[in-house]
This record gives sequence, C-alpha cells and structure tokens, in this order.
Amino acid sequence: MRTQLVVEGRARLEAPELERYRTQAGDYAPSLTSVFYNPRMEFCRDISVSVVQVLADELGSISICDPLAGVGVRGIRYAKEVRGVENATVNDRSQEAVGFIRRNVELNKLDNIEVRNEDANVLLWSRRRGRFHFIDIDPFGSPAPFVDAACAALAREGILALTATDTAPLSGAHVKACLRRYGARPLKTEYCHELGVRILIGFAQRVAGRHELALTPVLAHSTEHYFRVYLRARRGGRRADELLAQQGYVLHCRACGRRVLTRGIAVELPGACECGGKPDHAGPMWLGQLMDKGFVRRVSADLVNRNFKLGHRELVMLDRCAEEADGPPTFYDVHDLARRAGVSAPKLLEILAMLRKRGYFASRMHFSDIGLRTDAPVDEILQVFRSFSVLRKTTEVGLNPFPIT
Ligand SMILES: C[S@@+](CC[C@H](N)C(=O)[O-])C[C@H]1O[C@@H](n2cnc3c(N)ncnc32)[C@H](O)[C@@H]1O
Ligand SMILES: [Zn+2]
Repeated sequence: MRTQLVVEGRARLEAPELERYRTQAGDYAPSLTSVFYNPRMEFCRDISVSVVQVLADELGSISICDPLAGVGVRGIRYAKEVRGVENATVNDRSQEAVGFIRRNVELNKLDNIEVRNEDANVLLWSRRRGRFHFIDIDPFGSPAPFVDAACAALAREGILALTATDTAPLSGAHVKACLRRYGARPLKTEYCHELGVRILIGFAQRVAGRHELALTPVLAHSTEHYFRVYLRARRGGRRADELLAQQGYVLHCRACGRRVLTRGIAVELPGACECGGKPDHAGPMWLGQLMDKGFVRRVSADLVNRNFKLGHRELVMLDRCAEEADGPPTFYDVHDLARRAGVSAPKLLEILAMLRKRGYFASRMHFSDIGLRTDAPVDEILQVFRSFSVLRKTTEVGLNPFPIT
C-alpha cells in the first residue's frame, strides 16, 4: 500500500496515502481503504489529548487503552503528548493496521506502548483485573458493541470516551436501528443531536449499571458527522442507581413547542399536552447535565497551554460547552420561536439578556449557532420575543418605549 507521512499534534505518523480515499466532498471514506486514518478527526483528537492530560494530572500516573486504533494515532498521541501516561495499549484486529501501529510506535521512539492484535472485546474482557484509566472507543459506526467490555476494563475513577458516527439512527432518521442498538426511541426535532447524545449516554449508563459502575458525563459534543462523549466512572451500585434516577423521556409537542421531561424508565407518559396537542416522545435517555463546567474549563486551559494552533475551533467549541453546561435539557431554535411568536427574530444576545433579567437560565450552545437554551416556559419566551417587536415599533415611530406613568 502507498503511504505518506502526516504530522498531528507532536506525533509523526505513517498513514495510507490520503488522496486514495478522499471523496469529492472532501471527506475520507473508510470503504475505500483497508486501514483508516481520518485527518478531519484531528479536532476531536486534540480535545481528547487535553482530556487525558486533565485526568493524568488528577490521578498521577495512568494507563490508557486504544482498542480500535487504526494507524494508532490516538494511543500514540496520548503516550507522546500527555505527561503521566505510564503505559498505553494500542490494538486493532486488522493485521495490516497493526503493521502501521508498530511502525508508528518506532517512528515516535516510544517505549511505553504495548501493541496488540486482537478483537477489542476479547482484549478488554481479559483486562478486567489490570484496568485502564482511560479507554477510547472510536469505532466505525456505533460504539454499542464495545461498551460492556469497556466497563469491565475501566478503572474506577477512570474515563470512558465514546465516539458514535451512527448519528442518523441516534438523531431519529432510523428509529428502529436506534431502538435495537440503544434500547431507546430517538426523535427528529431541532434538538435531535442533543437527544442522540443523551440516548448514547443513557445507554452506556445502563450497561455500566451491570458492573456496579456509575458513569457521569464530563464533556459531550456533537461535531460534523459524529458524537463524542467522555464519561467519568465511579464505583458503587448506589451511585449507579442515583444516575439511573436521572434518566427519562422528553415529550415534545409540535403544536405549541412545549417540552415536558418525565423521569423514570418504565413510566407512564402523559398522553396530552397542556395545549390539547398529542406530544411525541424520545427516551429513555440521560436527563442530567451533559458537561461538568469545571472539567471543561480545565480541558480548555490545557489546550491553550499546548498552543498548537492558537485561536482554533476547539477553544470556541469548549467555551460554548461551558456556557451551556448548567442549562436544562433541550433547546429552542430562534427562528422557530420567531415564527411561533409571529415576529422577526431578535438578536440572540438581546434575548439571552432579557431572559436572564427575568431570572431564568439562558445561554448559547455548541450544538447550534441559532439555538437558545433556557428554563423559561415557552409562553414566556414567546412573550419576550414579542416584547422586542413592540420595542422596535415604538422606537421606530419615535415613541418612548418606557413611558413614565
Ligand atoms: C474508525 S477506525 C479507528 C480510527 C482511529 N481510532 C483514529 O482515530 O484514526 C476503527 C478501527 O477499528 C478496527 N476494528 C473494527 N472492529 C474491531 C474489533 N472488533 N476489534 C478490534 N478492532 C476493530 C478497524 O480495523 C479500524 O481500524
Ligand atoms: Zn402543546
């Protein structure tokens, strides 16, 4: 196979010649190559490096596992760029991929990497006594087949990272596939990607429950064609029960835009909305916080220190993640709200300020540039939208919008 040298972070890597599997749209197609390295995932890997650094700083020295490694880029970058990685196990079931991994370990002069050529599940189950502090499940498609074994091999206090590229089922385009893989119903809405991320987390938490393990998300993002979640492990059935109590359903009324959260797994869902409409539902899924703001800030601070590409997209996205971290589940599309209110959309920052003045949580988010996350009831949000239009009209005709009476 023709290969080329790529540089990513501080690693130098031999990868299959990229031109061979680049599509006209500028994507890279796994079906066109026997060993896959996707340069467009560098964004995701940069963030992962900083996540692993934050974990290593907390725990001192850590062991990590990259069980679906391709050319080995993730495991090699962690071993090379993160202070405190004592050892990394880098594995792929493809012999050809393992050839790349071995050459890349040499190229980077690393002596803290063990290279393996096994099925990921076999490897992870065999390590349930010598557990890993960070396990990176980065497959083609769904991570679901690997979550059980990953929970068995995850050190208590460690972090499990999952990538899902099966965003179509998780976001409601293939309902049956989502039910089959994740045991949950997705729903196409303006916030369907957030629901997909929550379904993925909810699934992992239910699997972890079998291992007396509680998995709490510390960072989750939806970027381009994939979802990525980082789940912090804690030992104990009671902690796992507490997390499961925060799973439930989102009911979405298309008639009035209202959303209702119902907590519990086998619960009866309200059949009608307050407006008389019949709501759709999605779940079960994680309804707790998607990110830990302090953790996200530490990841950003590490990225800034690395200084590879200052001012880059990763920091902007992490900033948005921190902004939305303390908000409630689901968000609104500003244009949809404007249509419902019968006005043109006010500036997002003005809406945020007005909602905050009224005592509500209100933020932007990383999921959408035109999204509004708030705990204000939908009727009140619409009132706020209409108040802007009144304000504009009165100022346009020269009236004082705030007359002293
Ligand atoms: C998406 S690619 C990995 C990309 C890599 N993590 C990166 O960041 O470049 C998925 C890899 O998983 C490997 N794979 C798929 N199923 C596997 C299994 N059951 N056990 C081990 N490796 C597997 C494939 O050979 C492929 O190299
Ligand atoms: Zn309704």
